[in-house]
Amino acid sequence: PVDGVLAGLRLVITAGPTREPIDPVRYISNHSSGKMGYALAAAARAAGAEVTLVSGPVALVAPDGVAVVPVVTAADMLAGASEAVDAGCDIFIATAAVADYRPDQCADQKIKKSESAMSLALVRNPDTLATIARRENAPFTVGFAAETTDVARYARDKMQRKNLNMIVANDVSRPGLGFNSDDNAVTVFWAGGEQPFEAQGKAELAAKLVALIADRYCDRASA
Ligand code: PMT
Repeated sequence: PVDGVLAGLRLVITAGPTREPIDPVRYISNHSSGKMGYALAAAARAAGAEVTLVSGPVALVAPDGVAVVPVVTAADMLAGASEAVDAGCDIFIATAAVADYRPDQCADQKIKKSESAMSLALVRNPDTLATIARRENAPFTVGFAAETTDVARYARDKMQRKNLNMIVANDVSRPGLGFNSDDNAVTVFWAGGEQPFEAQGKAELAAKLVALIADRYCDRASA
């Protein structure tokens, strides 16, 4: 049903987790599988968009006709996404679960264990979505948020703080949804409204999200 609604538009989508190295064999990461981002990329492509997927390490095959920029760390994700946006981007969607912190240094050699406890010093990572959204001539930006309580308040707050056009809040308090599952349930927020989507497969949900994003984008473009 969404055939062609994004024809002629260029989309950049981030997906998957990032990995922040501790030493040559260890890293900090999270449970993102990339499924939500890859489903959105496929749906946007099916809707006629030119799609670049900036993807952390995942076990998924790129959807047909979608260009993939593989990245590993949060710093790589910012660089890859910035370059993709520089090449031309009308709509930017951030589904990636980017690590908020990284070890302040990566050891050159594998760290040897000892009997004593050890601690890691962590430093903040750059925020890809906020950086893109604050650019001059920023694309239409859509963020994701994983919240468990006060979903509407936190999501709207994040949308404002990061200067976004829309935010998709996952209900990650419900088992079998969100991270690394095949289904998701979300509520989408934008300045003038909100829309809930009940639990369903990520491919089905992605097609509906693409239609809603195209609607909001067209409204803004014609405002
Ligand atoms: O990959 P799946 O297994 O399919 O799971 C999908 C998902 C649950 C990971 C996805 O639907 C989702 O919710 N992604 C966002 C996860 C999250 O908690 O984001 P956040 O609240 O840390 O960040 C908010 C937004 O800023 C996100 O759009 C994120 O991509 C972006 N961000 C955050 C930090 C950072 N350093 N750079 C960013 O771009």
